[in-house]
Amino acid sequence: MTEITFRTAETADRAAILDLNVRVFGRSDEADIVSRLEADGDALLQLVAVMETDIVGHILFYAIRIEGRTRAVGLGPMSVNPWAQRSGIGSGLVHYGLRHLQDGGVGLVFVLGHPAYYPRFGFSEATAAAFIAPWKGPQFMAVRLRHGPPSAGRLQFPSAFGV
Ligand SMILES: CC(C)(COP(=O)(O)OP(=O)(O)OC[C@H]1O[C@@H](n2cnc3c(N)ncnc32)[C@H](O)[C@@H]1OP(=O)(O)O)[C@@H](O)C(=O)NCCC(=O)NCCS
Repeated sequence: MTEITFRTAETADRAAILDLNVRVFGRSDEADIVSRLEADGDALLQLVAVMETDIVGHILFYAIRIEGRTRAVGLGPMSVNPWAQRSGIGSGLVHYGLRHLQDGGVGLVFVLGHPAYYPRFGFSEATAAAFIAPWKGPQFMAVRLRHGPPSAGRLQFPSAFGV
């Protein structure tokens, strides 16, 4: 397979990122969330996976407030071009992103996603369950990267999510 490069997203990638989200999810909801998070200043980190010159994967991390203070991060949306799935690109994006966040001092990352996928990166329902959030159950998970953030409290998500 052609080599994949992971890097932070640039302004020039914007159209390709939105297009990828629409194609992967088969609707515009996730692309709209990406646009809204950017517009509201809530997008903290966006990474892309590039094959030759094509963006084949994208991941976004956004700010979450715990008890009113910005102290955690959320993962999503995340997308990999269907023909490139199951070849490690999604894992590469998550690993690269978590390492980057940990190096930047982030202690806690939440995700609402597939319960069979995210535990391999350390996410667990148990870590998220102590927090008061709009979601509960096996799809709502968290991973602790550092000591520091509280292990319970009320989470406030960006308004892009409408919760
Ligand atoms: C989820 C997604 C980003 C994973 O990307 P990827 O590049 O295929 O992932 P990787 O190659 O790193 O990992 C493949 C593994 O993910 C698993 N996986 C992929 N989609 C999954 C899903 N919906 N539920 C559970 N596991 C899933 C595969 O079974 C495979 O597991 P295995 O290694 O045990 O065989 C990609 O499948 C995708 O874009 N899906 C559609 C959009 C989506 O659901 N985004 C996530 C929203 S939370």
